[in-house]
Amino acid sequence: MALISIDFAETDFDSLTQDRKTVVVFADETLDSNVKRIDRKMRGALTRALASDAWDEVKPGEALTLAFPTGLEAKAVLLVRLPRRAAMDVTRKAGATIAKSLTADGALIVAKSVRELSALVEGVALRAYAWSMKSEAATAPGSVTFAVSDPTAAQNDCAAALSRADAVHFTRDLVNDPANVLTTTEFADRLLAMRDLGLEVEVLDEAALDKLGMRALLAVGQGSESPSKVVVMRWAGAKGDPLALIGKGVVFDTGGISIKPAAGMEEMTMDMGGAGVVAGVMRSLAARKAKANVVGIVGLVENMPDGRAQRPGDVVRSMKGDTIEVINTDAEGRLVLADLLWYAQERFKPAAMIDLATLTGAIIIALGYDKAGVFANDDAFCGTILKACDAESEGAWHMPLAPAYDTLIKTRMADMKNTGGRAAGSITAAQFLQRFVKPGVPWAHIDIAGVALPVAETTLAPKGATGWGVLALDTLVRTQYES
Ligand code: BES
Ligand code: MN
Ligand code: ZN
Repeated sequence: MALISIDFAETDFDSLTQDRKTVVVFADETLDSNVKRIDRKMRGALTRALASDAWDEVKPGEALTLAFPTGLEAKAVLLVRLPRRAAMDVTRKAGATIAKSLTADGALIVAKSVRELSALVEGVALRAYAWSMKSEAATAPGSVTFAVSDPTAAQNDCAAALSRADAVHFTRDLVNDPANVLTTTEFADRLLAMRDLGLEVEVLDEAALDKLGMRALLAVGQGSESPSKVVVMRWAGAKGDPLALIGKGVVFDTGGISIKPAAGMEEMTMDMGGAGVVAGVMRSLAARKAKANVVGIVGLVENMPDGRAQRPGDVVRSMKGDTIEVINTDAEGRLVLADLLWYAQERFKPAAMIDLATLTGAIIIALGYDKAGVFANDDAFCGTILKACDAESEGAWHMPLAPAYDTLIKTRMADMKNTGGRAAGSITAAQFLQRFVKPGVPWAHIDIAGVALPVAETTLAPKGATGWGVLALDTLVRTQYES
């Protein structure tokens, strides 16, 4: 879904009495001079609201709705609790609260006193998202006007927030779209369209992948009618070795011959979530012209059972040259990532690599839907990633790697097998990936199986795809990789 229409204007108190837009005002213990003027028009209704028990129950970032206020044309006034020195995530939550209350009439947000306007705007833009293929579309929210003292300055301050929100929506659309819509070809086409933003985008087809020796990746897609593809997106906003972002893009994961149970299989349309996040980050970097060198590489495949599909017991040779015994065709993501990691290192000599993947159900057992699992071969690197996640309120938790787990993927048949059994399922998957990381390259693997599509809505996203990670990685690039 495209961003809702947002603009900035000077505060015009006269229009308040004529406009039907919902009026949004901010308060904590008291009303500021600005809001007091509106309160006078409302014959003191805001002052009375502040003195009510209902207001005492309202937490920072939440709101009280006053319906059909006297003295105003608006159908409602939203009184939002926003402390003067509110933390960024509280301000963003206030924005989300406003977005949830939006109607077709739109809203006029009296934002002169808001300290972090861009966080508020980001909250509104992120939460005002809906995805549906219903024939009868829900009524779209009307336009949102932020009343501020300097509209041009506000517009400039909020440009990055808006382009970041657009990138998150781009990722959510990819994750929410069903697999008959988002085929590997459609996915590649959406990435190619980002050339308009100045991204360099290259699509490698099956013949090219075969020539490169990516037989682990190709084996996953060989049972599908949709061709496997690898897409390379480059944003060279600076010189030097790039940061490489690598994404698992399984557009649908049936499990293959090791087929998944029917119950819940429909959720596997989200198994391209890692690739979706990588695409969203690249979009954001290009839109805000980040001064960083970043390459995004995604592997787009479909895991289907078929006469040509790979079988349990098959042994495939990866691009690296290592052989892999395929014990379970449902452990397909690591086969895709193995070749992508190797390709990234061979071609780009990256300064660091981060892969993102909806890799294991086991990470949901370990961490649920609130935190992604972060595995890394370098504690300092892991620390910077966790810090960026924390700054964006995107949950993340450091998970372990250790040689003891690596022994679980040994086999007499080949250099490794693709599953390590039920115990520590997320860790053995990460150990598998680490075998494709060259010594000395800082690398992190983020398992987003739980956070990409949680069971319930979150503060900044309605039920469905969250776009988890787009903001954190955008922030990581801004704080660590921009010159
Ligand atoms: N795509 C799944 C992981 C997944 C599960 C993502 C639930 C989102 C929600 C992955 O390809 C998979 O099937 N993993 C297996 C690995 C097992 C066969 C070793 C799993 O987690 O069961
Ligand atoms: Mn699978
Ligand atoms: Zn999968």
